[in-house]
Amino acid sequence: MFNKVAVIGAGNVGATAAQRVAEKNLAREVIMIDVAEGIPQGKALDQWQSGPIEGFDARVRGSQGYDEAAGAELFIVTAGIARKPGMSRDDLVRTNAGIVRSVAENIARVAPRSIIIVVSNPLDVMCYVAMKASGFPRERVIGMAGVLDTARYRMFLAEALGMSVEDIQAMVLGGHGDTMVPLVSCTTVSGIQVTQLMPRTQLDAIVDRTRNGGAEIVAHLKTGSAYYAPSAAAVQMAEAIVLDKKRVLPCSAWLTGEYGLKDVFCGVPCLLGAGGLERILDVEISDDERKALHTSAEAVRSTQVTVDAL
Ligand code: NAI
Ligand code: 2OP
Repeated sequence: MFNKVAVIGAGNVGATAAQRVAEKNLAREVIMIDVAEGIPQGKALDQWQSGPIEGFDARVRGSQGYDEAAGAELFIVTAGIARKPGMSRDDLVRTNAGIVRSVAENIARVAPRSIIIVVSNPLDVMCYVAMKASGFPRERVIGMAGVLDTARYRMFLAEALGMSVEDIQAMVLGGHGDTMVPLVSCTTVSGIQVTQLMPRTQLDAIVDRTRNGGAEIVAHLKTGSAYYAPSAAAVQMAEAIVLDKKRVLPCSAWLTGEYGLKDVFCGVPCLLGAGGLERILDVEISDDERKALHTSAEAVRSTQVTVDAL
């Protein structure tokens, strides 16, 4: 258990993530920070009052400033604006870059040894902003997207096959956008290649639905984007770090040559433990998947360049 985990942004993803952190007993104190007056305090108190029912002792507190988060070991950054219908994740870049930059500077000031899990969109580029603004090494700035995209892919496959989500093993790599790369070559049901269990056309349709999984939910909600699965995904990463689980999860990481890619954030298989990003697994994937990964990474790189010019 950590002493303190802080969640920045007490909106849909942030508040749900804070509650999951408390319910999983990952920290003695959970701090929610948001610029919206009263919101983090009110949500935190409400969550804390669920402790006697849910059986957790974490003290959940809300704040507008960062003093409460001093010395926190882990931050989950969800501050920013979310997508509305017709908006791509990249439409959020200018506003969210300013927000994430100031958030990361504050984190570096009050908790210079902490680990940051970035959730704000456009995800991979916000990781870049957070890494630059915090000055943290790549081991301590990790982006959440692949866990969510993979969960969506696994859920769609489980539904189509009429099989348990628990038995679907898969990985979605690449940037968190329309160019993401569900690895069909690594998709199995209890070790059986998925291509043996469904026709390729059906699998292609599921891959396509996965790529548009976020937009599908935005189209339903109209006033915002997904948050139950995103918060679960961020907290799965947090749990791997807090409990030093050495989990292998697809996360956005700063690449220094892995998969032939350099100086760009991109979703790759990562080993998460107490040190944050402890290792990137640079493994063999098919030529087509490698090509798709490069296309996806180049899309991220072009937005990184835009952010540099802001
Ligand atoms: P939301 O609008 O419900 O919450 C965002 C919160 O951030 C608001 O409460 C707002 O007051 C706060 N905020 C704005 N500026 C701030 C600042 N400077 N400091 C602290 N708080 C600040 O949005 P939601 O649904 O929670 O999404 C949050 C972000 O996460 C969005 O950028 C969204 O696109 C992204 N997201 C990313 C996912 C991923 O897979 N990486 C999945 C789902 C959402
Ligand atoms: C999602 O994939 C909007 O990035 C967010 O749901």
